Amino acid sequence: MVMATHNFSPSILCIILTTLVSIAGAKVPAIIVFGDSSVDSGNNNFIPTMARANFEPYGRDFPGGRPTGRFCNGRLSSDFTSEAYGLKRTVPAYLDPAYNISDFATGVCFASAGTGYDNSTADVLGVIPLWKEVEYFKEYQQKLAAYLGHRKAENIIRGSLYLVSIGTNDFLENYYTLPDRRSQYSISQYQDYLIGIAEVFLKDLYKLGARKMSFTGISPMGCLPLERVTNMNDPFSCSRSYNDLAVDFNGRLRRLVSKLNKELVGMRIYFANPYDIIWDIVTKPDLYGLEVASSACCGTGLFEMGFLCGQDNPLTCSDANKYVFWDAFHPTERTNQIVSNYFFKHLKNVFH
Ligand SMILES: *[C@@H]1O[C@H](CO)[C@@H](O)[C@H](O)[C@H]1NC(C)=O
Ligand SMILES: *[C@@H]1O[C@H](CO)[C@@H](O)[C@H](O)[C@H]1NC(C)=O
Repeated sequence: MVMATHNFSPSILCIILTTLVSIAGAKVPAIIVFGDSSVDSGNNNFIPTMARANFEPYGRDFPGGRPTGRFCNGRLSSDFTSEAYGLKRTVPAYLDPAYNISDFATGVCFASAGTGYDNSTADVLGVIPLWKEVEYFKEYQQKLAAYLGHRKAENIIRGSLYLVSIGTNDFLENYYTLPDRRSQYSISQYQDYLIGIAEVFLKDLYKLGARKMSFTGISPMGCLPLERVTNMNDPFSCSRSYNDLAVDFNGRLRRLVSKLNKELVGMRIYFANPYDIIWDIVTKPDLYGLEVASSACCGTGLFEMGFLCGQDNPLTCSDANKYVFWDAFHPTERTNQIVSNYFFKHLKNVFH
């Protein structure tokens, strides 16, 4: 009706139609997730490891109040991003037999809590190394093609948003905890080593068809409750040296991302640097409707995570929505939502 009253020239009509078609064609059909506990939606429940969170009080604010393996009281930022794109409210874990390829066609998570870029980081707790996450992705592609046909499967693989969130464990669980890597590499050399692995990984995903990616940097990990408690220089304050390291590593990741954005034709990687937003939340929680930033909700809030964050701790807080951190190493659902909203403002302009 509106069109009829305007006198569009054929070429303008053509532009309008092409734009409409490209917007429709660009819709994100699925979210495909790689990484560590920041985005693991339950894969570790199905491998023999201690790095698990499939028991109470984990998940107590999750839909249905059930523990899923997410290291959180509720949903992860990847779940919120999926929902923001109009997809599922939660991204299912690839190894969970409760789901099948029809679920995974709109979102799938290959992440594993406790893993890192470095193979030896995954070895610490016997979790899924990053290369194996990529192997699972290849297997997924085959299942998807068998289920939907090659053409549709390829459209999903090309059109999907890839979320990658990994790296903290290489420093905190591996380099600064165990002697091996420290005896082999200076911290600067170790960062270069990790960046080299990140580059191979991103190029592998590109070769496998990924074109749209949100690649997450490292948060101010010196402000994690566990790192505050163990900060010998200034107990209970954020560890300055871990935060400086995060800034340094994020700078290197950013340079890698801009290099790959030039090199890989048709690939668009958005560097989602969580440092500033999480620093802001931690230092000014009241601006975000939060009250407690220096200790976590679970237990004493100082060191509990995984098995130590168990069911019967009378100290566990009653309202996790007041806390920045759920356990000593992981944000609450509320923080995940704030961070996801913050990035989605940018993501929705880059990847429709
Ligand atoms: C996936 O699971 C659903 C519900 O359990 C079932 O109805 C469907 O047939 C399954 N699809 C495939 C492709 O296995
Ligand atoms: C990690 O392990 C896999 C499988 O053994 C291997 O293919 C890969 O080269 C290793 N990565 C590095 C950086 O050593």
